[in-house]
Amino acid sequence: MLRDVLLGDGVALTPAGIRFANPRTVKEMKDVMLKPSESSEVVYEVFRDVLPTHSNALRVDLTVLRPGLLPDGEYARTHGHKHPEGPWGRPWPELYCVLSGNGTFLLHDDERAYLVEVKEGDVVGVPGEMVHILVNTGDKEMITCNYVSKLFKSDYEYLKKRGGPAIFITKEGIVYNKNYNVKEVRTCSPLPLSVDELVLSYSFKPPEEEWLVCEPYI
Ligand SMILES: [Fe+2]
Repeated sequence: MLRDVLLGDGVALTPAGIRFANPRTVKEMKDVMLKPSESSEVVYEVFRDVLPTHSNALRVDLTVLRPGLLPDGEYARTHGHKHPEGPWGRPWPELYCVLSGNGTFLLHDDERAYLVEVKEGDVVGVPGEMVHILVNTGDKEMITCNYVSKLFKSDYEYLKKRGGPAIFITKEGIVYNKNYNVKEVRTCSPLPLSVDELVLSYSFKPPEEEWLVCEPYI
């Protein structure tokens, strides 16, 4: 169904209707970059709520991330955020699918960082307590969809307070952010958490918050 989405310039015709892009520019990311920049260039666009779902609490978004480098030498990437805890005491999870392109998911907390190399068709389960950032290390647009609850607000301040993510992925290699204690970066395969584990985490939610009731695969 997501393959039926028609992407235009800042607009998308989706199974849920016409959606307009939420663009993120370089200067809107200056607090989380290696070196701040006032560039107005758009790095990525998000189209929200692009699929009709079986649950009012579930949202499916599309992200279109351009290739190339940011002015600070990083590969183009999303701002990044983490999720708060749900009422069942664990952070809200999220599921990402890569629709086209290839790149890297950066998942990290204060001490751990994981790089998940992804290509078209891969699925990544995101533990909500970890910062998640999509990095386009390929040479064409990267398009992903994400399945996430509408019942919480993502935390962007965590990254802003620390001057960006735990590591910066640049053309020259990884640059560590001194505001974290990450000493080792691990690479792992898509789905670093199994779907079973994700389902398990969903099982902690109250029944009225059954936000992942539609098929999570494209
Ligand atoms: Fe998220």
